[in-house]
Amino acid sequence: MKKKTLFVTGGGSGLGAELVRAAHRRGHHVLCTGRRAIADLPSDFPDLPYLSCDLASAGGAQVTADWVQSHLSGRRVDCALLNAAAGYFRPLSAETPEAISEVLTLNLDANIVLAHRLSGNLEGGTLALIGSVAHKGAAGMPVYSASKAALDGFGRALAQEWRGRVAVRVLHPGPIATGMSARAGRKVDLADRLFLSPRLMARIILDAALAPRGRDRQIIGYLRALRGQILPLGRQAA
Ligand SMILES: NC(=O)c1ccc[n+]([C@@H]2O[C@H](COP(=O)([O-])OP(=O)(O)OC[C@H]3O[C@@H](n4cnc5c(N)ncnc54)[C@H](OP(=O)(O)O)[C@@H]3O)[C@@H](O)[C@H]2O)c1
Repeated sequence: MKKKTLFVTGGGSGLGAELVRAAHRRGHHVLCTGRRAIADLPSDFPDLPYLSCDLASAGGAQVTADWVQSHLSGRRVDCALLNAAAGYFRPLSAETPEAISEVLTLNLDANIVLAHRLSGNLEGGTLALIGSVAHKGAAGMPVYSASKAALDGFGRALAQEWRGRVAVRVLHPGPIATGMSARAGRKVDLADRLFLSPRLMARIILDAALAPRGRDRQIIGYLRALRGQILPLGRQAA
């Protein structure tokens, strides 16, 4: 496969870090942003351009887009994987205006700003928006679900608007064992044993994002993951 230039948000940990590692192993050129400082990246993190920036802060997405464009110097980004997100597992009555704003800014607004700012650099490439099966409305996470439902709508609209110029794919993973759910405040239970491996999920998402053709919206749950584990003969997992 031809080496490509990829941009990943939330790439310093969780699914994003696995996306970065998988893309780097395949020899792609990866630009990566995350909230944590460079010093806090995992010790085995690949040596590649990394920007520490809070995407929920005012102007964070603009700063990030400027940084990406400064690295591209007019070249194309073949695939932008907008993956950074957060959410809280609690009823709406327990939310605060600050937390609601943070989740909507990070999960939705920042992605719209990045798509808007990078549209010229994405010509001929792919914008992959990492959604969630929660976009259908997950009990206990009303604000997070709303942000992912809105991201789904944004992606559907943009896929039509940009068809023939930029492929837009909204990829909705099922539960992943990154610890996000527990950090969001959900009590760990037996269901957590069924959460999918971040490494496997990253491989499937990367394949879905880089495939020359694919549906605009894709659910990546257990069945898809199972199919992903049964590799075609002779193909190596990356
Ligand atoms: N885990 C699941 O069960 C699950 C299921 C469906 C969909 N998803 C989606 O998959 C994607 C990755 O989730 P994950 O499981 O990897 O979650 P995660 O482990 O919590 O990672 C979230 C990533 O987003 C970054 N991030 C958080 N707040 C940020 C901010 N204010 N500014 C910039 N970056 C920020 C984090 O950076 P730092 O670590 O540097 O703070 C981290 O790299 C998300 O879009 C999530 O909604 C996850």
